Amino acid sequence: NPSSAVVVAIDGTSGSGKSSTSRGVAARLSLRYLDTGAMYRAMTWWMLEHAVDVHDASAVAARAHEPVIVSGTDPQAPTITLDGVDVSTEIRSDLVNANVSPVSAVPEVRARMLELQRATIQDALDGPGIVVEGRDIGSVVWPQAQVKLYVTADPAARAARRALEEGGSDAARVQASLEARDRIDASRTTSPLVQADGAVHLDTTPYTLEEVVDQVVALVEDAKATA
Ligand code: DC
Repeated sequence: NPSSAVVVAIDGTSGSGKSSTSRGVAARLSLRYLDTGAMYRAMTWWMLEHAVDVHDASAVAARAHEPVIVSGTDPQAPTITLDGVDVSTEIRSDLVNANVSPVSAVPEVRARMLELQRATIQDALDGPGIVVEGRDIGSVVWPQAQVKLYVTADPAARAARRALEEGGSDAARVQASLEARDRIDASRTTSPLVQADGAVHLDTTPYTLEEVVDQVVALVEDAKATA
């Protein structure tokens, strides 16, 4: 029933706990899940593999229509394929971390991703709905989302968390990398990271993942009750 389908837009800074929160909420509410950051990461991996200079915006733009990126939307086991090959591991590499922000700033890249993201959301409206995480979901991709969140966390806390996720990387180095990405993501011209109109700001620093998921699930249930 399309009229009761819900779209939950979860935007925020790198390592704020967006991904775990989004997956947790989707799993609890039996919704689909789309990680738009993974799509930008796959695009970046493709550019690196094809020796495109990621700092040359026109070179990136010229080839942005080529990679075939497909996202699996099961929150328990999200997948991402690039030209038919699973790249879940490759897209989390330091190389991609260091190059994803300039690629994501290219308007032709964003236009292409926007089209794919809207099609995935549209498909999910035939079911109970979808949780979509990224930087511009509530502001640009799906401004009509019934629930919008802007998730942040203390930089040291998020670096510690990400370092742990990355198997014990050095937290100070991870913090510098996260902050560098956030600076570029928030200052770019096309679809910068912003708190969307109507978005609820959630600072996850003092909470456990389960507490954050509980808070978001409550917001979604409120929104459904008042719809
Ligand atoms: O959420 P993440 O750290 O996996 O995202 C990786 C990069 O992708 C992030 O630094 C900026 C970009 N991104 C974006 O520009 N727009 C989105 N909706 C999602 C991610």
